[in-house]
Amino acid sequence: EERPAAGAVPQAGDPSLILLNRVGVVDPSSLDDYRAHGGYTALRRAFALGPSGIIREVTDSGLLGRGGAAFPTGRKWQATASQPDHPHYLVCNADESEPGTFKDRVLMEGDPYALVEAMTVAAYAVGAHKGYLYLRGEYPRALHRMQYAVDCARARGLLGDDILGQGYAFDIEIRRGAGAYICGEETALFNSIEGYRGEPRSKPPFPVEKGLFGKPTVENNVETLVNVLPILTMGAPAYAAIGTPRSTGPKLFCVSGTVEHPGVYELPFGATLGELLALAGVRENLRAVLLGGAAGGFVRPDDLDVPLTFEGTREAGTTLGSGVVMAFDDTVPMPRLLLRIAEFFRDESCGQCVPCRVGTVRQEEALHRIVERTGADAADDIALLREVGRAMRDASICGLGQTAWNAVESAIDRLGAYE
Ligand code: NAI
Ligand code: SF4
Repeated sequence: EERPAAGAVPQAGDPSLILLNRVGVVDPSSLDDYRAHGGYTALRRAFALGPSGIIREVTDSGLLGRGGAAFPTGRKWQATASQPDHPHYLVCNADESEPGTFKDRVLMEGDPYALVEAMTVAAYAVGAHKGYLYLRGEYPRALHRMQYAVDCARARGLLGDDILGQGYAFDIEIRRGAGAYICGEETALFNSIEGYRGEPRSKPPFPVEKGLFGKPTVENNVETLVNVLPILTMGAPAYAAIGTPRSTGPKLFCVSGTVEHPGVYELPFGATLGELLALAGVRENLRAVLLGGAAGGFVRPDDLDVPLTFEGTREAGTTLGSGVVMAFDDTVPMPRLLLRIAEFFRDESCGQCVPCRVGTVRQEEALHRIVERTGADAADDIALLREVGRAMRDASICGLGQTAWNAVESAIDRLGAYE
């Protein structure tokens, strides 16, 4: 049973919003309503600029990927556009599965045509004529709304052989995930689309060179793509003036846990954690905040002045990741929470490489012994956790194994979780 998206945006209707400005305001099924609220202005500007002009704007905007890794989008687009091998593909990663992440769902359910338009701009910029939207299987409402938007856009000449009479052909195919977290890893996602087992490939080669079906591919997160619309409508300098010099633009934050008003919030980069939590109604007995999701790390209640930027959270010893902000008050049993995170990684490991396949099991076992007090000495298990964590971080093939120990480590070192 799904909850409606509108209530998931506590700021809905606030005229200062840039990414969420139509969510909860427009009828998500109506292309005309989308157009009446500024829709398809960015695509017209894109056709006027041409592919290299669009890439210049996106590069100058300083846009960094919003899936969690903060790679410069302009660099990615330029690298794909310049590949001599054809065809080029565009893939939108909507397999949003990081625990505590639900911003892409809100965008797709509340403003689906924005993603269709943004994918069209991206495809035109990098010379792709086919785009895949890989959508998390547990998002049936987003699937229906996106499929309807794609079909309506095609019927009105906004997808297909001659978009806006500009002679450019592009279409979108939607593929559903089947519940595997690992299929959100970009190369496992390619394997999944191609009909193979969802296992990550070794990088390099990066997808910009050899991606889907071995061809040059741009893969971007939903929020990343949607940012391209205001970049084109307001222009790169105005966009880059929002946020901080190294983390430009607006950002969506997914606030959950022990707060009064959980939901998706939009703030410019550089707002502090305390400012965000004040909006969400933080409770007085705050014990810890998990930033970046299960792959991220905990900060303490005295870290509320941490600026919510990629660089600020890195300096604070964690990551902004995909914008997860999960608050925990002192009623939450931390050891059980860590055990839950460990179970998640053990369950979601694809099993392809030994450090992660075995390490995630050993991590869960050690945490279980600590919680159930069945081990001889918790200190021995913590030493084992550190050893296993190091091996996973250093030797795993992909980000899942490399980050599976982050949250547990930060809870031990910063929160004294087992003291
Ligand atoms: P990554 O740093 O390996 O790559 C980021 C992107 O940049 C990829 O598209 C990659 O192909 C590209 N890239 C990196 N170096 C490149 C180069 N030299 N040339 C061209 N392209 C290059 O990170 P990864 O593994 O793709 O993502 C990890 C992040 O994903 C984590 O920070 C985590 O927070 C986030 N994540 C998000 C989830 C969600 O539901 N949104 C779920 C799980 C993880
Ligand atoms: Fe699979 Fe884990 Fe290895 Fe990634 S690190 S390839 S999820 S076993």
